[in-house]
Amino acid sequence: MSYEAQSDARVGGSATMEHGSSSRAGSPILEVRGMCKTFFTKERTVIALDHVDLAVNQGEFISLVGPSGCGKTTLLRIIDGLEQADAGERTLEGQALDGVSQDMAYVFQDINLLPWRSVLDNAALGLEARGMSKQDRKARAMEVLEMVGLASFAGSPPYTLSGGMQQRVGVARALAVRPKVLLMDEPFGQLDNFTREALQVEIAHLWARLGMTIVFVTHDVDEAIFLSDRIALFQPAPGRITEIVDVDLPRPRTDYDVRAHPKALELRSHIMAHLRAGKGMPE
Ligand SMILES: Nc1ncnc2c1ncn2[C@@H]1O[C@H](COP(=O)(O)OP(=O)(O)OP(=O)(O)O)[C@@H](O)[C@H]1O
Ligand SMILES: [Mg+2]
Repeated sequence: MSYEAQSDARVGGSATMEHGSSSRAGSPILEVRGMCKTFFTKERTVIALDHVDLAVNQGEFISLVGPSGCGKTTLLRIIDGLEQADAGERTLEGQALDGVSQDMAYVFQDINLLPWRSVLDNAALGLEARGMSKQDRKARAMEVLEMVGLASFAGSPPYTLSGGMQQRVGVARALAVRPKVLLMDEPFGQLDNFTREALQVEIAHLWARLGMTIVFVTHDVDEAIFLSDRIALFQPAPGRITEIVDVDLPRPRTDYDVRAHPKALELRSHIMAHLRAGKGMPE
């Protein structure tokens, strides 16, 4: 079964997802409860997460937004099992998780493609780690490279790709393992505005087409509004989720001009005021 067919079966068809209706009505696929994490260094003690709760619905696109250092990456790493929490629990489809989950994939801000491997072999990296045969992983990696429009670069070394194309390989690498939940940490943060907008449209399209559940970290409020069903707002020191807002904008949002929608503008000023207040700045 192809990824698309499998995903459609899981969410009841991509047509539903295109309108975003099932995503908000769904039951939680992923839950974190009472997550705490304190970092101790010689210089300071930082409460990165202070009893953070989050329930992510099946098929939902949820963003984590907040100022630098408020604990977004820490939470994402804990969700994936890359970081150990001091307290709290996480469940996927109701099952408690321990260690790194094979059912989730992580897209890092710094993609770090292996320079000695072809684009195809980079996209297949996670499959190799999961013990898939060479033939199967080549076929799967090719499938996801096609999804991100890079099939013709499969045999090329990564240095021949632009930054945006390399970022697409990172997305393909994560999609290749067919994750139940895709975790993305500022994946477009280092790109120029035009490339970033193009990739935002692309990820929105893939999300709708594949019926994925995505937890997405960003500093960029407009990016969060464009992509998300809901946005979790963080405040730092100690890191907490202080509000979760619904993004009640029509889907599909393939046209980036949705940013100018009156509801988007209202939401933007609400989020900015919330974030400024958290930093002790005037609203
Ligand atoms: N390994 C570590 N050792 C010590 N402190 C850490 C470590 N990792 C994170 N921190 C601290 O924990 C806090 C939260 O860090 P985190 O990386 O989660 O923030 P963030 O919200 O992702 O920030 P940014 O938007 O800049 O990426 C920060 O104060 C950071 O300095
Ligand atoms: Mg971060």
